[in-house]
Amino acid sequence: MLSYRHAFHAGNFADVLKHWVLIECLEYLKQKEKPFVYYDTHSGPGMYALDSDYAQKNQEFKTGISLLWDQADLPKGLLQYCDCIRTQNPDDTLRHYPGSPSIAQALMREWDRLTLCELHRTEHEILSGQFAHDKRSEVWNEDGLNRTLKLLPPRERRGIVLIDPSYEMKEDYERVVEFLQAAHRKFAQGVYLLWYPVVERERIDRLEAALINSGIRNITLFELGIQADTEARGMTSSGMIVINPPWTLKQSIDDGLDYLAKKLEVDGFSTLRSEVLVGE
Ligand SMILES: C[S@@+](CC[C@H](N)C(=O)[O-])C[C@H]1O[C@@H](n2cnc3c(N)ncnc32)[C@H](O)[C@@H]1O
Repeated sequence: MLSYRHAFHAGNFADVLKHWVLIECLEYLKQKEKPFVYYDTHSGPGMYALDSDYAQKNQEFKTGISLLWDQADLPKGLLQYCDCIRTQNPDDTLRHYPGSPSIAQALMREWDRLTLCELHRTEHEILSGQFAHDKRSEVWNEDGLNRTLKLLPPRERRGIVLIDPSYEMKEDYERVVEFLQAAHRKFAQGVYLLWYPVVERERIDRLEAALINSGIRNITLFELGIQADTEARGMTSSGMIVINPPWTLKQSIDDGLDYLAKKLEVDGFSTLRSEVLVGE
């Protein structure tokens, strides 16, 4: 039984880092005319109304996008991210926050393809509605890791795989590593983006160690925290682990991460990491 709804969290500090990294990678792949495929293993419903009861409950967007939205001095990468959110809010009032499938939908070209998976029936229905007329896309109501694995490798031989589970099931921490190993065997040149929450730091230490020992090379990690590690408060930090990052990615994120941490800090506190876990 799935109870997680991302609408409660849309646009929070974790979404900012996640979607910024995603946009950097999409834009990088677009530098070549050749088509590519975007796989989203845990898509969510696609778009979030920030005035909905869900989003209003804890107003988590106020820990993220709201703090950046109207800044005049954004570094280049964050400006690109905010511009993307702005295209979904044409009257310059922040009412909608796009999820990962909507971001990809907006940025990808007519000759690229999107493969989206969402297991929750209601979320899948909403997502399917949004993509009903988008001929580039296929939307699956199946386990996203199993389905994506069956679809790899893409005939285009170029692609991004976003793995963004809610980690409601604790076995997800192990499953994502197994998935990455199997997916990498089938599609070694793919760009893989794995999101993780820091709720219990030990789980992330184990996740990092498993990836470092997996035999997969070329792995970089970015993390942003707005509270010190503690198991008493829920998610305090979150990060993105990127396999085969575009060669420009680390510099782009490094150029804006300090700025982001300063803008999103809580009571003067923030932490960040930008590390190559495994070299090329
Ligand atoms: C963190 S949310 C995704 C947010 C989305 N990627 C975004 O950036 O807007 C995780 C989603 O995964 C869905 N989900 C949970 N288990 C799944 C599974 N095994 N396969 C596919 N989707 C799943 C949940 O219903 C939820 O909508």
